[in-house]
Amino acid sequence: MSEVKLLGTGSCVPEKIVTNDDLAAMMDTSDEWIRTRTGICQRRIVTEETLTSLSVGAAQRALESAGILAESLDLIIVATLTPDEPLPNASCAVQKALGAWNACCFDLSAACSGFVFALHTAAMYIRGGAAKTALVIGAEVLSKIIDWSDRKTCILFGDGAGAAVLGASDIPGFLGAAMGTDGAKGHTLTMHERDIANPFRTRWLSEHPVLEPAQSLSRFVYMDGQEVFKFAVKRVPESIGQLLDQAGLTVADIDHFVLHQANYRIVEAVARRLKVSMDKFILNMDRYGNTSAASVAIALDELMRSGSVQNGDYLVLSGFGGGLTWGSLLFKMII
Ligand code: ACO
Repeated sequence: MSEVKLLGTGSCVPEKIVTNDDLAAMMDTSDEWIRTRTGICQRRIVTEETLTSLSVGAAQRALESAGILAESLDLIIVATLTPDEPLPNASCAVQKALGAWNACCFDLSAACSGFVFALHTAAMYIRGGAAKTALVIGAEVLSKIIDWSDRKTCILFGDGAGAAVLGASDIPGFLGAAMGTDGAKGHTLTMHERDIANPFRTRWLSEHPVLEPAQSLSRFVYMDGQEVFKFAVKRVPESIGQLLDQAGLTVADIDHFVLHQANYRIVEAVARRLKVSMDKFILNMDRYGNTSAASVAIALDELMRSGSVQNGDYLVLSGFGGGLTWGSLLFKMII
């Protein structure tokens, strides 16, 4: 069994900046409303970029910082809800663009927890000996699945990608995970792709005229904001507590907390429940909004490039979102 460590990170966001004032010019909202409720001031939205181009940009920076060639990768996982196309999947498109011909590639879908789930999966591949070097990407072009006439959701989200390279190591860098899901609460955060429309169902409906055809479901993101808020402030501290108990550490031992950047007030509530100073939490939702699966990855890259991470520092990464899904990972930095 091999140990696992973090070798490098990268990120890539679209050029186009959309401010709260830009949105206020399009709909009945205001910079003040958005800023005070969410901490978001602006977000990046694609114009020319694609999920693949953002993913490849983040991957190239992560490979460069890890000092790894694309040909050395054994595994590529892209966590996303918004691939450019369902076939081929995003990870295959990334493999092609990078020339990572020795990698096995697949996508993973776990909404805003996707990057954390994918990083955990890659760490398990390496621990189990199925891979030595893995590229994990969290990427999202949420702007294409948002209802731009719904001010309750469209002000929250942004586009972007972040990446991390994990590698086999003699010294343990990846120290544990506490993951969970609650499918029974799936209805609080949804997006329905399509209604079932095949010839057999059409015939079945015509033979059962008393039954109404299934209601056409929204193909855009729907969110019960207050339920999601309650879920996050309960589950995230629980999962971090569980993770630290398993590792025999306390919150005081942790140097940096990298949480999903959904909302400033969620991070603040988690910090309060854990009794940890906000100084230890990375915050960038003011600049990028909520980038779903990309959010922890982009925040991790910003932290790594800030120069504030020292050898031996403990990092907690925590994702939470649709499913409902949540998960926390513990790393010790080996630099
Ligand atoms: N601008 C102005 N007014 C607005 C806007 C807007 N963009 N959106 C909603 N409002 C209005 C509503 O119409 C409502 O008005 P009413 O009282 O006259 O009906 C009022 O503001 C309150 O609306 P709520 O939806 O109840 O707003 P709330 O105070 O719950 O704040 C928010 C919404 C910020 C989304 C909050 O629920 C929250 O923080 N949720 C956490 C979940 C989250 O951040 N999810 C992100 C995506 S999911 C994830 O990443 C896991």
